[in-house]
Amino acid sequence: MQKITVHTGRPYDIFSLTTACWSKPVTWCVVCPAAKRICPDQRQQCVPSVRRPVVQALESADFQVCTLVFDAGEASKKPETVLNMVNYMAREGLTRGDLVVALGGGVCGDMVGFAAAIYLRGIDFVQIPTTLLAQVDSSVGGKTGVDLPMGKNLCGAFQQPILVLIDPQVLRTLPDVFFCDGMGEVIKYGCIRSAELFALLEQASAKDRIHEIIYACVDMKRVVVEHDEKEAGERALLNFGHTAGHAIEKLWNYQTVTHGYAAVGIGMVLAARAGEGAGLTEPGTADRIAALLQKYNLPVADTHSIDAIVDAMQADKKRTADGMKLVLLRKIGDSFIDPVDLPTLRTMFGGGACK
Ligand SMILES: NC(=O)c1ccc[n+]([C@@H]2O[C@H](COP(=O)([O-])OP(=O)(O)OC[C@H]3O[C@@H](n4cnc5c(N)ncnc54)[C@H](O)[C@@H]3O)[C@@H](O)[C@H]2O)c1
Repeated sequence: MQKITVHTGRPYDIFSLTTACWSKPVTWCVVCPAAKRICPDQRQQCVPSVRRPVVQALESADFQVCTLVFDAGEASKKPETVLNMVNYMAREGLTRGDLVVALGGGVCGDMVGFAAAIYLRGIDFVQIPTTLLAQVDSSVGGKTGVDLPMGKNLCGAFQQPILVLIDPQVLRTLPDVFFCDGMGEVIKYGCIRSAELFALLEQASAKDRIHEIIYACVDMKRVVVEHDEKEAGERALLNFGHTAGHAIEKLWNYQTVTHGYAAVGIGMVLAARAGEGAGLTEPGTADRIAALLQKYNLPVADTHSIDAIVDAMQADKKRTADGMKLVLLRKIGDSFIDPVDLPTLRTMFGGGACK
């Protein structure tokens, strides 16, 4: 078992275990897992296979457990779903002494965390992330929220979990498409902070080294979040590739491309090319990122034009009145924030096709 403590305003522990971490009694009273899966053709209810032992362990430890199940997928990540959650919590009579558990992927964690942030003006919550993306990224750091029609994650709150339990074994049931999705975020960590991780991903198979990869990513996120809990500065580095990526997700109505595919895959290549074009990024960086993404079956281009993507980027919540903070690389493992105005943004990304 490995433990990482995140020293935020209210410190919390992350436990990474190789066996089912939920079998230990913890004081909690409600579980809110995402249940249905996006791939209906496989007819497996994988997340429930994680939920059942959690609920059983809690009930056998005499905790009262109530469960809310909601549709999986980004299309669910909207205010109406969170409103359903808080109504459910109110009907169940949850008090501030109770606990909410987010058992699922990043969509579940973001929404359950947000519901926990606003119900009774704040109730404790635990993250049990079950996708690679959620294990390496979204379950740590306290960003919670939902999408609005105007853009992704436009409505939310900072609410740190009181505990994160990571069991890499649950990834065995994760469909490849979502594993690859999470690899987008893993590659991002290599790009922004660790040339060593990037090289490991180039040389080895991620599945063979998944424990050390998850640990490395979570620890990098810990450092960034500890320095800048509310994203006033350094934490924005974690958004490398996300500005263009969120724009692409929006252009596809959050349905055709998944978060990692869009944000971390195509967006990172676009940002690296933009940096190379401006003479700020070591030449060859974008090609190296694209090759690594392709190794993990992630696409590196989108069918929308660059102009359409830049238009959509301008709705990003992180933009200011004059421009936005673009995350660029000097080279693999070395990132920086470049404040650009909107005309410069368009010039840097160029026109024409997205390639
Ligand atoms: N809060 C943050 O800091 C942060 C960071 C990065 C991404 N995010 C958010 O995370 C979301 C994406 O998360 P995601 O990629 O985990 O997607 P997801 O939550 O939609 O999960 C993907 C699919 O996998 C299924 N699933 C989950 N665990 C499984 C398992 N063990 N076995 C089989 N199937 C399983 C889910 O039911 C779902 O169908 C986006 O909304 C993104 O904005 C948040």
